[in-house]
Amino acid sequence: MIKVAPSILSADFSRLGAEIEEIRQGGADSVHFDVMDGLFVPNISVGIPVLKSVRKVTDLFLDVHLMIERPVRYAEAFCAAGADLVNFHVEADSRENILAAIDTVRKLGKKAGITLKPGTCAEAAEPYLALVDLVLVMTVEPGFGGQRFMHEQLPKVAAIRRRLDIVNPTCDLEVDGGVDGETAALCTRAGANVLVAGSAIFGKADRAAAIAAIRNA
Ligand code: DX5
Ligand code: ZN
Repeated sequence: MIKVAPSILSADFSRLGAEIEEIRQGGADSVHFDVMDGLFVPNISVGIPVLKSVRKVTDLFLDVHLMIERPVRYAEAFCAAGADLVNFHVEADSRENILAAIDTVRKLGKKAGITLKPGTCAEAAEPYLALVDLVLVMTVEPGFGGQRFMHEQLPKVAAIRRRLDIVNPTCDLEVDGGVDGETAALCTRAGANVLVAGSAIFGKADRAAAIAAIRNA
């Protein structure tokens, strides 16, 4: 089953609760919550207090994408703030610390994921594949919504799907960046089953139609 995860980075933050209710009614499977620290990526977004507020207004699954340096420092805090899944960039810390972060999250009863930037090869995911609930392949350089989909990432999606089928078949494979009603089909064909989309959903007046277009691409 294909899941659609709207990224609130493209939402109107002055009415975030209403935006989340609209995507819930529109059939969203989860909320993709982008955290940026201005160091790991050249942009700053939202963090723990906003996640706590979002948790209060929705039962939707909260998929937290940490684009921060040394994310192990905050693994526990994001779980406590209401994350259902915490996602760590493999480039953001040592292997030892990423493994520790995954362990912390899973011991707290939450799901853990790893993320790969476009320049990171599929093999970099290998030490974590059997230990995580989700692998995210970025299809833009992380930091901003509304960028062009990087088609050259599709072989990486396919390669990771092949490895997951062997070592962790129930693991979700997510793509994030430039996903819309057209590129979504390329992603699912390559083996992705969770599609993050920001501008292609919050940029449209009819959120239900935008979500359906991505799910059924
Ligand atoms: C980018 C973020 C994405 C972003 C996607 O660094 O991780 O989640 O919101 O936005 P679109 O779908 O507009 O490319
Ligand atoms: Zn994201």
